[in-house]
Amino acid sequence: MRITIFGATGAVGTRAVKEALTRGHQVTAVGRTKERLQSLALSLATEAPAGSGGLWLERGDASDSGDVARLSRGQDVLISATRPVAGQEDELAIAAKGLVSGLAGSDTRLVIVGGAASLTVPGDAGTMVVDAPGFPAELRPIALACNEQLQVVRGSSGVDWAYVSPPAVLEPGTRTGEYRVGRDELLVGDDGESYISMEDFAVALLDEAERPKHHRTRFTVGY
Ligand SMILES: NC(=O)c1ccc[n+]([C@@H]2O[C@H](COP(=O)([O-])OP(=O)(O)OC[C@H]3O[C@@H](n4cnc5c(N)ncnc54)[C@H](OP(=O)(O)O)[C@@H]3O)[C@@H](O)[C@H]2O)c1
Repeated sequence: MRITIFGATGAVGTRAVKEALTRGHQVTAVGRTKERLQSLALSLATEAPAGSGGLWLERGDASDSGDVARLSRGQDVLISATRPVAGQEDELAIAAKGLVSGLAGSDTRLVIVGGAASLTVPGDAGTMVVDAPGFPAELRPIALACNEQLQVVRGSSGVDWAYVSPPAVLEPGTRTGEYRVGRDELLVGDDGESYISMEDFAVALLDEAERPKHHRTRFTVGY
C-alpha cells in the first residue's frame, strides 16, 4: 500500500513508519522540519525494519490543506499523529481542518490519532474522561484540544475517516501484536490499567489502514 504519515518524526509517528515499513508498504513520512526528518532517516538506517518497504521523506504541515492534498495524491491512506507543543493546543483542531479539507473528495482514507479524554468513563456513558473527578488539570488543555479535533473530523464531509483514541496511557514499550478494540468507552485491562504501548498502537493503526473496519467513526484500542 501507499501510506502517507503526518507527524512521522514524533513518538507515535516514528513507530507507525517502522510498522508500515516492516509490512512492506511504500511510506511517505511527513514532518515540518528537515532536521527531524533527517533524524528519522538516521534512526531507520541504523535500525532498518525487516522486510522494508520504500521510504520517502517530505516536508509538510497538516494545517496546510495544499500540503495535505499534494502529499496524499494517489495514496491509499493518510495516517496523522501530530501533536502541538504545550501552549499551542489550538493547533490540533487547525491541523484537523487542514487534513479533512485537503482530503475532501479524494479516495485517500484518513486514520487520525486523537486523545483518550473524549472517551466515556467505564460504566458511565454520560461522563467523558476529561470531566471525571481527578482528571489531571495539566492535561486539560490537550484533552480539550483533542475533543475539538474530534468535532472537526466528525463535522467533515467527503472524507472516509477513522479516529483512533488511545487508552489513558500511551507510552513507548514493546510490540506484542495484541490489543483489544472498543468504541466510545475507555478500555481498562484486567489489571485495572488503561494502557497500550506505542508499538502496539502502531500495529492497530496499520491494521486499520490495511483492513478498514471503521468508517467515519471513532474507535479505541488498549490491552
Ligand atoms: N492518552 C492519550 O490520549 C495520548 C497519549 C499520548 C499521545 N496521544 C496523542 O498521540 C498523538 C501523537 O503524540 P506523540 O506523543 O507522538 O507526539 P510527539 O512525539 O510530540 O510528536 C508530534 C509530531 O507532530 C508533528 N506535528 C505537530 N504539528 C504538526 C503539523 N501541523 N503538521 C505536521 N506535523 C506536525 C511534530 O513534528 P515537527 O514539530 O517536527 O513538525 C511531531 O513530530 C497526538 O495526537 C497525541 O494527542 C494521546
